[in-house]
Parts: sequence; C-alpha cells; structure tokens
Amino acid sequence: MSERKDELAIETSGLVKTFGELRAVDGVDLAVPAGTVYGVLGPNGAGKTTTVRMLATLLRPDGGEARVFGHDVLAEADRVRSRVSLTGQYASVDEDLTGAENLILLARLLGHRKAAARERAAALLEAFGLTAAADKQVKNYSGGMRRRVDIAASILNTPDLLFLDEPTTGLDPRSRNQVWDIVRAVVAQGTTVLLTTQYLDEADQLAGRIAVIDTGRVIAEGTPGQLKSSVGSGSVRVRLREADDREKARRVLAARLGTEVTLDADPVSLSARVPADAGGGPAERAAAALGELAGAGIVVDDFSLGQPSLDEVFLALTGKPAQPARSADAPAGTTETSDRERSADRKETVA
Ligand SMILES: Nc1ncnc2c1ncn2[C@@H]1O[C@H](COP(=O)(O)OP(=O)(O)OP(=O)(O)O)[C@@H](O)[C@H]1O
Ligand SMILES: [Mg+2]
Repeated sequence: MSERKDELAIETSGLVKTFGELRAVDGVDLAVPAGTVYGVLGPNGAGKTTTVRMLATLLRPDGGEARVFGHDVLAEADRVRSRVSLTGQYASVDEDLTGAENLILLARLLGHRKAAARERAAALLEAFGLTAAADKQVKNYSGGMRRRVDIAASILNTPDLLFLDEPTTGLDPRSRNQVWDIVRAVVAQGTTVLLTTQYLDEADQLAGRIAVIDTGRVIAEGTPGQLKSSVGSGSVRVRLREADDREKARRVLAARLGTEVTLDADPVSLSARVPADAGGGPAERAAAALGELAGAGIVVDDFSLGQPSLDEVFLALTGKPAQPARSADAPAGTTETSDRERSADRKETVA
C-alpha cells in the first residue's frame, strides 16, 4: 500500500439520504483511517446499508459529501469503484454452479490465471469451511453457506476498501469465527474494512473504532473500550448447585453489586448487571461478588461474564431500547436474551 499512515479511507461530512419523508441517513460524519477495521453499529433500520451503498457509489447522496481515498463518490465514482468491494456486489454466484466453480469463474473474470484462480478459490473455500461443500451446487447450500460464498467472492481480489454489510448475520458461531479470521487476514494485507453490524461483540472483536448509528445519525464514536466504558456495565450470569440457594444468592448479589438481580427461567440461574465504578471494572466487581457467594456457603456450578449488549449500549446512549421499530416479526418478550443467544438464534436476513 502506498497510502500514508494517516490517510483517510473514508471521509464523510453531513451525508444525507432521504426516501420520501424519511431521512434514512441524516447528516453522518465519518472519518475512517486507512488500514483499519471501522465498525458501524446500529439496530435494524438505523441507516447502515444506506450509508454503505452511498459510499460504494450504488446510491446517490441527497446532501453532504463523501470521499473514498480522497475521491468524491459522485464526481469521481469510477475512481472510487476501482478501489472498493462490497459483500453482495459480486453476489452473482450462479445457483447451478458449485461453490468452487463459482469462485474460480469469478477469479478468472477478475483476471487471475487458471492456476492462481484455482488456488485462490481453494484457499477461500478452506478458510470459510466450505471445502467439503466445494463441489456441491450452490442451490443446495444452506443460507449460512451461501452467505459465506458471497463474502468469499467479494474478497477474491484484495480491494483497498472492503464493505462488509452485516457479514455474520445468520451464521452459526463457528462460521462467525471463521469470518472474523478472514476479516483479520484481509486487514493484515492492508485492506481497510468498513463493517456494519448489530452486535457489539463483533465490533469489539474486529474494529479499531466504532460509530454507533441510530435513525440515520451518529450518536457515539470511539474505540470499543470507550464505548463500553461509557455504558459502564456488563452482566454476570450465575448457575447454582442448589435451587434452594437462589433467594439467598439473589440477596448477596443485589447487596454486593447494587443492581437488580434477575431470576432466570432456569430455577438454578440468576443474572445481574455489573456496573463499573470506583470499585473496579465489571470483571473485578463480578469476581468480588462471586467470592461473596462462596463466602456465604453458596455453591456456584458455572458463571459467565458478558460485556454490555448493544441493547445496553443503546439504552445508555439514547435512553431507549435498541429494539427495531419494525419488529412486528420479532417474538415478544425476548429482552432477556443475551447477545450470544440472539446471534445464534438469528435467522438469515437479507440486509
Ligand atoms: N430504497 C428504499 N426506499 C425506501 N426506504 C428505504 C429504502 N432503503 C432503505 N429504506 C429505509 O431507510 C431506513 C434505513 O434503512 P437501512 O437499510 O439503511 O438500515 P440498516 O441500518 O441497514 O438496517 P438493517 O440492520 O435492518 O439492515 C429504514 O427505515 C429503511 O426502511
Ligand atoms: Mg442493512
């Protein structure tokens, strides 16, 4: 890469996109340093895809400015296009071809020689856990496998800037980790990645900086650590040996953590918010609370400490839950579900 270290891969100022009355993107300012993963975190309908589509020159902004490696997305759209790739842009994967055939064909179209195309396709299939399915027709792939082939196709040629729009939505935890590894490998080769996600843990794993967007506006920006500490809490879930101890455990945790403790559906489990304060970060506080349970003679079989969920981040930043406005299809009463469970539960959605 010839870029200077401080070059901006993306710079927007006051970017706007309206659909009729709706300001889907409502004055977004972004500064994405080259060579990094930048996370755009937000719930359904926040304006993530619309922003990405404008930056990838697929959608015309109605206001403001956007530059990609210094090139204006309107005036120099061709220059921008020559340097970016978007997951789904090459989603012209042919249902009747196998995964391997698709990738080899696309690699050939991108100018790779036959041997190099085969090699690249095989490496990507391997990295995406698709080797066993390499010779199956794509129409017989599961939704998650199909998604992985789409992503593989978008990185056949290493672009300077890769847009990954919710790359792991609908993937199981193992595939998700594989995609994360791919993203890390792509960035290690000098590509800048703009990653949209609904999951704080994903942005935390991958992104150097994150912009949180809601209803078309950036409501917070910073490193994952800054974002999490602005929320100032995590959550601890404890599984007891004896259900009879649960009430006592609830009192101990509530007193120690100073937060409300939730009794889970599982009769031996309970969970609580763990605030960070002068008494230390969430991990220290949770460890102290667990020590106190042991001191009270309560046997803990298992526990987990989670970072704040996107819901908590949203609640802290906006005072309202991150539930999507158009959530008619979402089951009611799922607010207790953890981020991890949610991602495992999530069905394939088209971004
Ligand atoms: N072509 C369009 N015509 C009309 N409204 C649109 C169009 N595209 C997006 N919208 C609306 O703009 C808003 C932002 O949509 P966008 O797809 O950018 O959200 P998102 O953050 O990508 O959400 P998701 O997480 O569900 O993918 C939504 O209210 C959406 O319904
Ligand atoms: Mg989207």
